[in-house]
Amino acid sequence: MSGDTRLTGVQTEFARNSILVSKTNPNGVIIYANPEFCRVAGYELDELLGKPHSCIRHPDMPRAVFSLMWDTLKSQREFFGYVVNRCADGNHYWVFAQVVPDIDPDTGETVSYHSTRRWADARAWTKAMDVYRQLLDAESVERSPRAAVTAGRRRLDEILAAAGMTYEQWAFSLSNP
Ligand SMILES: Cc1cc2nc3c(=O)[nH]c(=O)nc-3n(C[C@H](O)[C@H](O)[C@H](O)COP(=O)(O)O)c2cc1C
Repeated sequence: MSGDTRLTGVQTEFARNSILVSKTNPNGVIIYANPEFCRVAGYELDELLGKPHSCIRHPDMPRAVFSLMWDTLKSQREFFGYVVNRCADGNHYWVFAQVVPDIDPDTGETVSYHSTRRWADARAWTKAMDVYRQLLDAESVERSPRAAVTAGRRRLDEILAAAGMTYEQWAFSLSNP
């Protein structure tokens, strides 16, 4: 697996009824991926198992969105959002992702996370991309990753406050006509 695959700018297409599933341990290390996830990402399952999920991270994804995702998951709530991922060949694909903590009913501890990704409409992900670009702009002028997260989260809060929505409400609103 190569983290420095050049990006092609080409979107990998997949069927509208596809469901791309992966599962991680509590640290975000991949412990399962379904055949459709592997096929679209362009990896064999063996290449993904044991890797941090950031191995398919696309540089167009703002740090702020993953920061919000992890804050949501750590408080044992599910996260919904638009994500663009990088494929093994440098292509990319947009999805609407649901990420869910699997909680042990006896201990109350999160034992794993799983994510279910669905095909995203181009009109929806184009709107997501517009906002993500603003977050990336805010993040890119900062010197440290931590400062970038803070700046991106602040910008996201401003955008959501102006829209009068939470991130989840905003994400769901994108697929409305
Ligand atoms: C179940 C689960 C699924 C995830 N799916 C993705 C994904 O599809 N793409 C992605 O870039 N990050 C995904 N992440 C988030 C990554 O763990 C990581 O936070 C993100 O890629 C940013 O990595 P970085 O902070 O090292 O740059 C997922 C995390 C979990 C727990």
